[in-house]
Parts: sequence; structure tokens; C-alpha cells
Amino acid sequence: VSWEWFRGEFETWDEAARLSGSYAAEAILERVVAASRDVRDGRAAYERDGCAFSVARPNAPLLTALARAASGSGGGLRVLDFGGALGSLYWQHRASLEALHCVAWRVVEQEHYVVAGRHEFEDDVLSFWPDIAGASRGKDLDIAVLSSVLQYLPAPYTTLEELVGLAPHWMFFDRLALVVGGRDRLTIEHVPAELGGGSYPVWFLSEARFLDALSGRYRLVDRFLTRLEGETPECWEVFGTNVPNQGFLFRLGE
Ligand SMILES: C[S@@+](CC[C@H](N)C(=O)[O-])C[C@H]1O[C@@H](n2cnc3c(N)ncnc32)[C@H](O)[C@@H]1O
Repeated sequence: VSWEWFRGEFETWDEAARLSGSYAAEAILERVVAASRDVRDGRAAYERDGCAFSVARPNAPLLTALARAASGSGGGLRVLDFGGALGSLYWQHRASLEALHCVAWRVVEQEHYVVAGRHEFEDDVLSFWPDIAGASRGKDLDIAVLSSVLQYLPAPYTTLEELVGLAPHWMFFDRLALVVGGRDRLTIEHVPAELGGGSYPVWFLSEARFLDALSGRYRLVDRFLTRLEGETPECWEVFGTNVPNQGFLFRLGE
């Protein structure tokens, strides 16, 4: 029998949160710290969600987006990576980021990630911030990156609005599963024990509402299906249907 990742449907975040664990669980961070150390110290090629991988695998759509952002950046690419863990995508692509003259990769994370990040993962380029306001001080941002995070926020549209308000030149989303129809749907994600276990509420946002939240300020310039290690598109079974993880690249301006 295959693992049932998503169970139940809930009307409010509070209701789902009462019946599940949380993304704030200390055990999740512990796995991410351990895997991120392996990457930082050269024992692994990259890390995702606390799993370390030995063979390098660049994220092609992300690199394309970063290259486009860099070409308009005047020689110093500035990135805000919301929900960027301990610099997962930064470490995965650090050689390419040097070539793109990335001068700032700012991760906005939960407080305890920020503490762990500042303690042992910061460098001249990578830094950790507890809020968007702090991470966006100074020169304009070239690109905001949101990979598999919007769906784990109690109020995703509030964060989206705050980011849109900063007007980064580009916005890149990846690993985002959206549903057809005008209604956001909420369930609980259950992680199998071999991947660390635990559970937390997760949104399957309405594709129409998501696109609407960006339209007006941003133009959609690329859209793709997320491919992970297996090269087959990442897809979830939820609400009696199959929902693929998608990526989107938006450019500021209409
Ligand atoms: C599935 S992981 C994705 C990590 C990374 N972006 C990636 O694509 O591999 C979700 C991340 O969202 C972060 N997160 C959850 N709630 C958050 C919040 N309120 N503010 C910022 N980050 C949050 C978690 O700590 C976690 O690192």
C-alpha cells in the first residue's frame, strides 16, 4: 500500500494546526542542519528537506531565472530566498552563483532556522533573516525565490502581497502544487518515518487565485513542471486527483 501523504480536508488553518504537528518542530531543523553540514563540508552535493544527495543536479529553471535576473542587475545579483532553509538552493548552486556575480543571497526563515543559519552557515554572500523587511533593506532586489514554501504558511497571500510590494524585478516559484477552481484547499501532510516523520498543515492553493495575486504587477514569462531526481514530474495524489508540482517565473511590469 502506498503512503497516504495528504489526509483530511479542513476549513481553517487553526483547525488543521490543532490536529497536526508543525513545520516548527525541532526534529525537522535537526535533519536539515545535519544534511546542510554535509553539503557545506563537501560530503554531499546538495540537500533538500533534510535529505543529502551525492550527485550534483543543478535546477535548470532556477539557473535560467537567476541568469535573466543577473543580466539586468548591473553586475551584482541580489536574491531573497523566502523559506530557503539553511541555504539549500544557495549551496546547491554556489559555483554558478559566483559566475553570475551574486553578491547577496538572503534567506528569510523561521526564527530557529535563522539562529542556526547565522551560527554556522553564513558567509560573505549568504545571510539569514527573520523577516522580509530586514532582508530587503538596501539596494533593490533582483529576484525573490519561493520554493516549496507558500503552501506551508498560515496566510500565503499576505506574504505574497508583502513580497510583491517590494517589487523585485523577478519572482521565481518552484515545487508549488495548485488546484483547478477558485477555492484554496487545506489538508494535513504526513511525512513517512524514513523521511523524518511528522505532520503539518498544507495548502493546495487555487491556481486562478495564485495567478491573480501577481497579475497587475507581474507578467508570467515561464511555467514548467517541477522535475526532481527521477526526472519525472513531481506529482501528488490529493483530494481524489493528481496534482503536479509546478514552477513559475514572473517579471515585474505588465
Ligand atoms: C519544504 S521546505 C523548502 C525548503 C527550500 N526552499 C527548498 O525548496 O528545498 C519549507 C521551508 O519553509 C520554511 N518555513 C515554514 N514556515 C515559514 C515561515 N513562516 N517563514 C519562513 N519560512 C518558513 C521551513 O522552515 C522550510 O525550510
